Amino acid sequence: MPDLSTTYMGLMLKNPLVVSSSGLTNSIDKIIQLEEKGVGAIVLKSLFEEQINNEVSFVIRNESRENSHPDAEEYISDYIRENNLQTYLDLIRMAKSAVKIPVIASINCVSGFEWMAFASNIEKAGADALEINAFMVPTDRKLSSADIEFKYLDILTEVRRVVKIPVAMKIGYNFTNLVGMVDKLQTNGAKAVVMFNRFYEPDIDLETLGMTTSSIYSSPADIRQSLRWTGIVSGKVRNIDIAASTGIHDGEALVKQLLAGATVGQICSTLYLNGFGQIDEILGYLGSFMKKWNFKQVSDFRGKLSYTKLPNPAMYERAQFMKYYSGQNN
Ligand SMILES: Cc1cc2nc3c(=O)[nH]c(=O)nc-3n(C[C@H](O)[C@H](O)[C@H](O)COP(=O)(O)O)c2cc1C
Repeated sequence: MPDLSTTYMGLMLKNPLVVSSSGLTNSIDKIIQLEEKGVGAIVLKSLFEEQINNEVSFVIRNESRENSHPDAEEYISDYIRENNLQTYLDLIRMAKSAVKIPVIASINCVSGFEWMAFASNIEKAGADALEINAFMVPTDRKLSSADIEFKYLDILTEVRRVVKIPVAMKIGYNFTNLVGMVDKLQTNGAKAVVMFNRFYEPDIDLETLGMTTSSIYSSPADIRQSLRWTGIVSGKVRNIDIAASTGIHDGEALVKQLLAGATVGQICSTLYLNGFGQIDEILGYLGSFMKKWNFKQVSDFRGKLSYTKLPNPAMYERAQFMKYYSGQNN
């Protein structure tokens, strides 16, 4: 049997398949099932700053006037924050005593403020690592790319100041210079980058002329952005692990990401769409692929097709352009 084990952010994983942060990892029962199915690690559902803030605003708005007290707002706000945090810390503690696979916590920050306290508590509760899910949609026309990058780096630096566990940064692909950005994340102490988050995307309903959301699940075709950037970043930035995320729906997709240079692959939509049985398919395929090519360990083929290993790395840059517009095929 080939050896599927791998290290990710310094943690030992029995294989490079990680379940990404989502409702799949928000209860102890599901986490136990995922370990039984054989995944290498799990990332817990994020603790959302915005959700806590919304809950605080909702409760304060609905608080009856008769019950109101000058200190009530502060009390409600502290209570809700504390309650959400304690529930999250309990999940970490339960997960750590119930499973052997690494448990990676996740926080979703829109600002750096007060997340240091959350991060520090998460470390004390026993999480093996922390993923920062930073999501900012830049709508301010006066904000420069450098200002936005600084916000990401600031959150990372602040969190890193208070925890010793490895920290990963989960990002989207909308950076002017993604390679440069990952390089800065590495310099500022990120042990891994998760490429990419898949945000809820808006759509327009032509029947109601209102806003709606598009499918929350990815499709297998959505792997392309992530595959391209995994290949480029793994070839260009040293000393940072890459968790490929978005569009890994089967074993072939995981193997492609590993060949491009990913350290691990994270899966989410495929488990919602196909059930936990899909884990057998993915790990089974990885094992048979390694046997077929006589790879004894994942490191024997990881990054074999990364940007710097290719004789023609332009394939990562303008493959479509060359194929369709160079005149060879039309
Ligand atoms: C229902 C659902 C809930 C999610 N919740 C979170 C979350 O709490 N934190 C987070 O960082 N990502 C969250 N995600 C994003 C996933 O972790 C993942 O990055 C994204 O779905 C792309 O991977 P996939 O193509 O394998 O689905 C969620 C995705 C889905 C579908």
